[in-house]
Amino acid sequence: MKMKFTMLEFVAVLLLAGVISSYGQQANYITTGFGAPVSYKDASLTVGRRGQLLLEDTEFIDEMAHFDRERIPERNGHAKGAGAFGYFEVTNDITRYSAASLFERVGKRTRIAVRFSTTGAENGSTDTRRDMRGFAIKFYTDEGNWDLVGLHFPVFLIRDPILLPSMVHAQRRNPITFLRDANQQWDFITLRPESIHMALYMFSDKGTPDGYRYMDGFGVNTFKLINATGHHIYCKFNYLTDQGLRNLTAARARQLEAQDPDYAIRDLYNAIASNNYPSWTLYIQVMTDEQARNSSFNPFDDTKVWPEDIYPLIQVGRFTLNENPTNYFQDVEQMALSPSNMVPGIKPSPDRMLQGRLFAYPDTQRYRLGPNFLQIPVNCPLNVRNYQRDGAMSYNNQGNNTVYHPNSVDSLNVSQRAAALNPPYSVSGDVYRYDDGSEDNFSQATNFYLNVLDEAGRVSLVENLVRAVSPAAATYQQRALDLFGNVSADLRARVQAGLGL
Ligand code: HEM
Repeated sequence: MKMKFTMLEFVAVLLLAGVISSYGQQANYITTGFGAPVSYKDASLTVGRRGQLLLEDTEFIDEMAHFDRERIPERNGHAKGAGAFGYFEVTNDITRYSAASLFERVGKRTRIAVRFSTTGAENGSTDTRRDMRGFAIKFYTDEGNWDLVGLHFPVFLIRDPILLPSMVHAQRRNPITFLRDANQQWDFITLRPESIHMALYMFSDKGTPDGYRYMDGFGVNTFKLINATGHHIYCKFNYLTDQGLRNLTAARARQLEAQDPDYAIRDLYNAIASNNYPSWTLYIQVMTDEQARNSSFNPFDDTKVWPEDIYPLIQVGRFTLNENPTNYFQDVEQMALSPSNMVPGIKPSPDRMLQGRLFAYPDTQRYRLGPNFLQIPVNCPLNVRNYQRDGAMSYNNQGNNTVYHPNSVDSLNVSQRAAALNPPYSVSGDVYRYDDGSEDNFSQATNFYLNVLDEAGRVSLVENLVRAVSPAAATYQQRALDLFGNVSADLRARVQAGLGL
């Protein structure tokens, strides 16, 4: 009897018969990168016992050339981190706000990847340093990847993305001494008073969370949700820890910096490895167009929180981390999270920091990981079909599919659902570089100092501010005191006393 095989079946039969091996399968002996068995691994090829190496030692060159290229650029911000996998489950119906498929029914589960990070220091830095923590989630939804790239603070230091590179440079190392520099840090902060709200978070005990499991997360920027009728509403995402909040005192954080620089990575890994799975509850806060127009503060300014008594938390679901990465570089270092990864039902608001971020993240990721970074398994969406082809390291080049649009060959259509969830919207205004000096930079900072912190929290804040400001030159100390005075005369007086001025 004559047997007919498709090409795929033919390859499968060969694979099963062990005639060919698919790439990446593990041999049970040592090979070169190109898969050839290695004859001896402990010595390179030399001329005599004490002689030179030979260019023909392709096994040495293969090993060394790969080693020479092991390092990729670290993230320009949030360089050190920890990652894990898990799932998100919907607990409450929010379909009246968003038609995003991951929210479509109570009980629906979506796989997630999470990356936690410190922000300001290098990949080799310590986990318990005073810093904001990154808390970013990738949802592998059935309509593409949605990334919620947030922080453990609800606010950010600046409200205009054009200042981001300067903000980062000021907080990092002095270009001459390569030391962190209190002068440039406080110079920037005191010249941009919108930064005071986040600075207070930073120098309170919230600036030293106890690892990654005992902290909340916030999307920080304002997003837009769209429901099935095409109606939109503005939204903040908050994800609150189910483990309870825990911060370290400044003294304990410094002690851990010396004793266990990888404290937070270790804590997360060990908790998951011992089946003690951390979880967070996801909430949204929503604001209508009309509320946004009449709001006393700019709801698209990421240095502001939305007061919960006016914009209450609405529960959405819970996410749990129950899986450690199997390989750190593959799963965590190569993870590319970006606020520009949005799915039907979730869109950007006019928040200008968010707008700036939409460009920056995929731009840096094309540089950091290469143009086909979305083909790396941890970044790969569940379904993909488009006309993007080629480029460095194209692993899924989409076979023999048509490479252009429109075409008369494939029967591919756009999604009617996505079209309905992208209704037209109008914008208006005069084009100008607005740097609005009339913004209220202090009311929410004052509320944080007086009402969010208790007295013990205020004492820690003052101690931490005194320690941070004291290395700065007198002129910056004075400017910092003026800034604190705009928050509260009490704060100014206490820091002034601490500085001995
Ligand atoms: C215009 C303002 C901003 C710019 C230009 C910017 C830029 C960047 C860049 C270049 C990275 C490295 C990304 C990578 O290599 O994969 C990054 C990471 C990150 N940023 Fe921003 N950022 C901005 C504002 C913010 C804000 C407001 C937040 C708060 C929500 C934030 C949270 C994060 C987090 C959590 C990460 C780490 C993501 C990860 O774990 O891979 N950034 N940012």
